[in-house]
Order: sequence, then C-alpha cells, then structure tokens
Amino acid sequence: MELITNVTEYEKLAKEKLPKMVYDYYASGAEDQWTLKENREAFSRILFRPRILIDVSHIDMATNVLGFNISMPIMIAPSAMQKMAHPDGELATARAAASAGTIMTLSSWSTSSVEEVNSVGPGIRFFQLYVYKDRNIVRQLVKRAEMAGFKAIALTVDTPILGRREADIKNRFTLPPHLTLKNFEALDLGTMDKTNDSGLASYVAGQVDRTLSWKDIKWLQTITSLPILVKGVVTAEDTRLAIEYGAAGIIVSNHGARQLDYVPATISCLEEVVREAKGRLPVFLDGGVRRGTDVFKALALGASGVFIGRPVLFSLAVDGEAGVRKVLQMLRDELELTMALSGCTSLREITRAHVITDSDRIGRSRL
Ligand code: FNR
Repeated sequence: MELITNVTEYEKLAKEKLPKMVYDYYASGAEDQWTLKENREAFSRILFRPRILIDVSHIDMATNVLGFNISMPIMIAPSAMQKMAHPDGELATARAAASAGTIMTLSSWSTSSVEEVNSVGPGIRFFQLYVYKDRNIVRQLVKRAEMAGFKAIALTVDTPILGRREADIKNRFTLPPHLTLKNFEALDLGTMDKTNDSGLASYVAGQVDRTLSWKDIKWLQTITSLPILVKGVVTAEDTRLAIEYGAAGIIVSNHGARQLDYVPATISCLEEVVREAKGRLPVFLDGGVRRGTDVFKALALGASGVFIGRPVLFSLAVDGEAGVRKVLQMLRDELELTMALSGCTSLREITRAHVITDSDRIGRSRL
C-alpha cells in the first residue's frame, strides 16, 4: 500500500473498499451538499498571522475537557454503525482513542453496545444521545451509559427529522442484516426495515421524538448527573438558551452537513457562539476538520477542542484500529507543526491574532 501522508487520503481508499451503499452513507451530505463543501472551503479562507523567533523546542498540546485531562484538543465525534466499516467497529475506535489519550464519543446508533465498548478497557468516553419518543427507553439507555463509565452526554439537537440524503434514498439504505443497533437490540428496536427510500429516515420518523425542546434538557438533568453537551448549536440565540438551561458545553456542529443544507460552515459560526458564551462554558466544533491547520484555526477562533467524524470511518474501513490511530497521530503531528511554525508552545498561546478571516478582511478594507 502506498504511504498515507494525510487524513483525506483515506477517503479514496475507503471508497474502493466499501460497498457503495456504505460508502455513500458515510460520505454524503444533505440535498445539494452545499454545506458539505463549505465545511471544508471555509477553513481554506482563514489564513495565518504567524509569529517568529519564539523558542518552540517544547510544544504542549495537552488540555482539559469537562475536567478530564487529554493529550490533545482533537476528539472523536459520534458516528453511527461503525461495523459497516470494519468488523471491529466501535471497539477499534475506542481502542485507538484510548491509546491516543483522547475522548471518543459513542453514537446511540452504534453497532456495539455501551457495555461492549466499556469492556475494551480504560478510556474517557462520552455518549451521544438521540431522544426516542418512548422516554423509558431513554431513561434506561442513559443509565446503562452511566453504568458503563461514560463521562458525559452529547445531546444531538439538530435531528428531529433525518436530513434528506439523496444517495441513501437511491440506495434504499438499510443496516446490513448481520448487524444491529446494538444498544436497542433487547428492546426490539435494533433493526431497520427495508423501505422504498432511506431505511434510516423511516426509523428516525418512527422512533425519534420530534417534540424535543429546551425543557427536555431540564428533564435529562433529572435522570442523569452526567454533564450535558448540546451538539448542534450554530447561533448566538441558541447559545444563550443552552447556557440558561444548564448545558455543560456546546458543540458547534451541522452534523457533518447531513441535516439542514445551506447552513454556514461550522467554522464560520464558531465566533458568534464563542462571543455569546463569554467563557461561561466551553465551545467545541466539528465539521470538515481534516488538517492540523484546521484544528489550530478553530482554537484561534475560540474553540476549546474539535471532534472528527468521517476521517475515523474512512480510516477504520481501510485499516481498522491502526487506521484510526494513524489519523489521530497525523492530526496531532500536523497541529504540533502548525503551532511551531506559528510561534505557539501551548494551546493557551494560540490567539485570535494568529488568524485572519473574511470578516477581518472586510473590516480592514473599510479603514
Ligand atoms: C454522523 N454524525 C452523527 N452525529 C450524531 O450526533 N449521532 C450519530 O449517530 C451520527 N452519525 C453519523 C454518521 C455518519 C456516517 C457521519 C458522517 C456523521 C455527525 C458527526 O457526529 C459529526 O457531527 C460530523 O461527522 C462532523 O463532521 P466531519 O468531521 O464528518 O466532517
């Protein structure tokens, strides 16, 4: 195999290896996929203002997320059904995250259960929650996640209805028969019916509670003492509400451009959220992070850390646990290089003045 030198290269290799239905499910965005492209392109419009002649012989990338010390500000986003990528699925991802000293977020729709993921050994893990219409199911699931040692709940708030992913409709996407949504197996909700469009879209329409609203964050707080991260905030208005309702943190996310098309790139929404948060809670970002330079840009604009989605799935498909390890290592090395070449020796030293954005350029041209 040719030497892999960056995270993006895994996508092409995964495409060659995976069944079309699986690759399309992992890769797709919603509708015109405008936001999918923009999640990447918006990073490319942010440029650096590096500082020079600073001793960068020691670079510290360690950080703390919700009280947990991790090796770097790069974590793993929840993505569903990882055993479609590789037989080890979420277990391989959990091992890779633990060996890199970072956090993995497990999807509600994982093909390994919370208990199985816990059994891989020590590691800091968060659990991503979809709220089902039947709240007893939610209660049980959250308890199981707590018992299995998960340290926070990432509540996904951008999916009352599944976004329209046209490739999944064309492929009549469904979970392959040898797999189940393992957390729901005992509840008889672990499989997806084959339908005439996306089987996942029908599953969501049947099970996920589209009445979910802010008051349910308060309800969640009555069933768990775990901190709650609100995943899917992209505006100042919702930042204010997330704080009011007691969120422990915000993940600026557009679900990897799989829900509402024509929302801005997450990196373009980040500053609005950070400004409103005023340091009262940590703000994280996911969406289109493929380079250490992207991580640096997000931190410069105020993120406390980032999460990666598709790179995990594609590297898992190509090389299992070793692939995911390599993705985390490449991003780590690239972030270290970016810090060195920008004159930053710790994450604290990365500031807004290290980058220049479109809005800075407009501001300057008015002077
Ligand atoms: C996701 N994402 C997601 N989010 C979530 O809250 N629960 C889930 O089960 C899933 N499943 C899922 C499957 C696949 C195939 C993808 C690509 C994404 C969204 C994910 O957590 C994250 O927001 C994005 O993937 C981040 O964007 P990038 O890194 O993929 O560009």
